[in-house]
Amino acid sequence: MIAFYWGFGMVWFVGFLSSNLPSTSHAQSCFSCTGICHSEPCNCQMGLCSSEMCFIERKPTEIKGSFRITKGCIENPARTQEICDFDHFPDHLQCVCRGHNCNDHIYLLHQSFQYRKNITCRKCSERDPDCGDTCYGHWCHEDSATGASGCGYGPPSLPFFHKGPELFYHTSKICVTMSRGSGVPRRHCICNRPYCNHAKQAYRNAQPPSPHDLPFRQCYNCDVNAQEAAITASCKQNRCIGHYCTFARHQQLLPNGQQITSEKQGCMNVSMSSQIQLGCAKKWLRGEFVEESCACNNYDLCNRDVYTAATSQRNPFRLFILFCLIRNFF
Ligand SMILES: *[C@@H]1O[C@H](CO)[C@@H](O)[C@H](O)[C@H]1NC(C)=O
Ligand SMILES: *[C@@H]1O[C@H](CO)[C@@H](O)[C@H](O)[C@H]1NC(C)=O
Repeated sequence: MIAFYWGFGMVWFVGFLSSNLPSTSHAQSCFSCTGICHSEPCNCQMGLCSSEMCFIERKPTEIKGSFRITKGCIENPARTQEICDFDHFPDHLQCVCRGHNCNDHIYLLHQSFQYRKNITCRKCSERDPDCGDTCYGHWCHEDSATGASGCGYGPPSLPFFHKGPELFYHTSKICVTMSRGSGVPRRHCICNRPYCNHAKQAYRNAQPPSPHDLPFRQCYNCDVNAQEAAITASCKQNRCIGHYCTFARHQQLLPNGQQITSEKQGCMNVSMSSQIQLGCAKKWLRGEFVEESCACNNYDLCNRDVYTAATSQRNPFRLFILFCLIRNFF
């Protein structure tokens, strides 16, 4: 009997380490809480939410030496590996895991960091884009609109892309141009060679070619902030053109029960199409917030709302099975 339990424990542990193995757990809940800590161990274990996948995040707060820990539920996470790792910044950690209350605490698996090389990148602020400063990180980034540049840590990340080492398998530099709402389009690039993020304007504008087999789509281009009934923008007439339509929504629940919603619909042009996270990713903490982010490209205006963005990208094979199942019922 003891041998059986031990064996089962090992299977679960290996399953946690490797996202490629099928999950052995059918339980459906995650810890869902947030708190500020001034010392280790930094943890919270109060509420629950239900989902097959859970997250934990730890970020510094404005008060020096203190951290905010946040736990909750996640669906279709951008992370391709179910491990704890840096989340863009050296002091932000994020863990994603699958299984009953698996977001118990932060597991730092040092193996994954050991094989990652540090590279030197340019590091300048918007105010002084041509400064001579550098940093050491896992990848470099640049924002071509502002000239800001710096180092990224953990899995390489770009908005609406999968976050994983696969991002740099076929190319060493990826750029996206995003238009959301009324602002001018912004270009972000990430790359993984020393000094690959350019400071000088002339290099910043040299863009990797875009994939020629991708059709352009017309998308809703809108930025709405709403608190209860007070909607501050209405822009259903505005359109933009891009390889992908995007939709991002953040809903915050205030202690008085009111809800603040921010919605951004827009377009995205890309230099590489293989690692886009199609459909919607969702992250939530019960009674606190819901964050959704979607990308779609199979018809014009597919970013109307979360539902159309998610369903327009459903796997046709899965829909076919669903259709057969439903037909058998009647
Ligand atoms: C990479 O750089 C970070 C930050 O400077 C440092 O803490 C870490 O030890 C370095 N890792 C390697 C393998 O050089
Ligand atoms: C994407 O590229 C097309 C064609 O060059 C252009 O018309 C469109 O405005 C671009 N969209 C964004 C978001 O940059």
